[in-house]
Amino acid sequence: MPSERQLPRRRIVKQRGARDNAFVMAKNNKDVAILILAAGKGTRLKSSLAKVLHAAGGRPLVEHVVRSCIAVGPKKIIVVVGYQAEKVQEIVGPLGVEIVLQQPQNGTGHALLVAKRAIGTAKYVVVLPGDAPLIRPETLRALVQKHKYGNAAATILTAVLGDPSGYGRILRKGGDTVAAIIEESQLAAEQRELNEINSSMYCFTTAKLWPALAEVKPNNKHREIYLTDAIGVLNAEGETVLAEIAADSREMLGCNTRADLAGVDHTFRDWKREALMRDGVTIQLPETVLVDPDVTVGEDTIVEPCVQLLGKTKIGARCIVKTGSVVHDSVLGDEVVVEAHCVISASRLDSDVVVGPFARMRMETHLKSGARIGNFVELKKSVVGEGTKAMHLTYLGDARIGSKTNIGAGTITCNYDGFHKNPTTIGNKVFIGSDAALVAPVKVGDGAYVAAGSTITENVPADALGIARGRQTNKKGWASKKRRELAASEKPKSKKKQH
Ligand code: UD1
Ligand code: MG
Repeated sequence: MPSERQLPRRRIVKQRGARDNAFVMAKNNKDVAILILAAGKGTRLKSSLAKVLHAAGGRPLVEHVVRSCIAVGPKKIIVVVGYQAEKVQEIVGPLGVEIVLQQPQNGTGHALLVAKRAIGTAKYVVVLPGDAPLIRPETLRALVQKHKYGNAAATILTAVLGDPSGYGRILRKGGDTVAAIIEESQLAAEQRELNEINSSMYCFTTAKLWPALAEVKPNNKHREIYLTDAIGVLNAEGETVLAEIAADSREMLGCNTRADLAGVDHTFRDWKREALMRDGVTIQLPETVLVDPDVTVGEDTIVEPCVQLLGKTKIGARCIVKTGSVVHDSVLGDEVVVEAHCVISASRLDSDVVVGPFARMRMETHLKSGARIGNFVELKKSVVGEGTKAMHLTYLGDARIGSKTNIGAGTITCNYDGFHKNPTTIGNKVFIGSDAALVAPVKVGDGAYVAAGSTITENVPADALGIARGRQTNKKGWASKKRRELAASEKPKSKKKQH
């Protein structure tokens, strides 16, 4: 991948979002453009990955922000990219946003200047940091409402925090109005007490913003143009700057450090579990359960402690997912039981299936209704028919198994010959004896038996017995003779007592 310095500028600037996004836009925010600032590196994270690409709550930070903006229904959404621009664009481009390249990144105010043309004729611009992902659409709508009805030049979302360190602080003038935002590094000693923080989420009237921003100089140690300085300019010019304390201060939290990321992730996970519980899911010891944002779970399903439900997983009604299990990108029907400590990924389990404990299903495995998969069984790219059982210590890879078949303990499909993966086909009502090795490609017909301990290298016809192992011989009296020989060869035991 080229570095952001080598990026083809036109491609980045011109690309519009995918047309296939059928997001319903509300009508009343068509005079609002939303600008998401996502060009910074995020030095304080100490990472090779751009800050806005770090994940919390199961998604990159910037994707959360874009999704909230879409729900507001603005005229347009613009994302300012810079550091690792191409990677950021990969995430937000498909969501239908416009991209603007900021190169180099000379501060939050500079980011706005770079986006001035894209903001165009919009009467208002909402500015959001790409690193504060908990913001909800209803809060953004309230911000715009307050701004419009307050006839303000700027309205700032703020929060009062017990520990405001790391944030710019709000210096109020009186009532709802703001005199200035003071960055932490520029706080005077008596201002250190200020605990109302700037969330970096604003609504501006564009006609007032541009002249104010033109006045801002990079008078700070980083030589950056701070958007926050435009607030002081507006106030000095007698314009109205309002502050709105957010109802839930968690929505204002930015992610500058790994600890911030962990805190924000925690809140997302809380919200997701609360939503599932409202929808009729029982979650035991909820704080131990991790659920990704796109996961759905049906009513009366019980999720035990220490479970992870990840990716695009869909779980039906009245299921039980027991402790320690991880389900990733999988679809479970109704009344499925996942016993403790199973790992299920990219698989489909139809209704009434029981798996585990300690079972693993991966890569396009499909268990049909009533199938039973027991402990220490691994399945890969296999279809298991209705009512079929594989209860113990088995590997089934690239296998198609019919219904009401029994797979004995320790059965292995030998699907890999060192070069290719080969299929195993097992019919209906088959009985595979324990410890059989089925060397693929191979077929076992309906109703056939495979003798325990067999290594099957040829097809077994329907209703036949396939047996492939050395014949047993019993040597009469061999064991007692052996014991006598051993006893005779041993030295006589010492009479001395051992202590
Ligand atoms: C900023 C605010 C601070 C506020 C805090 C809230 C300024 C000067 N300070 O500080 O008052 O309390 O957010 O979280 O605005 N970015 C760009 N281009 C740049 C610089 C930054 O797009 O040139 C983006 C970053 O990617 C980030 C956002 O702007 O998503 C905020 O930048 P960040 O460096 O996190 O600012 P803070 O120091 O947190
Ligand atoms: Mg920040």
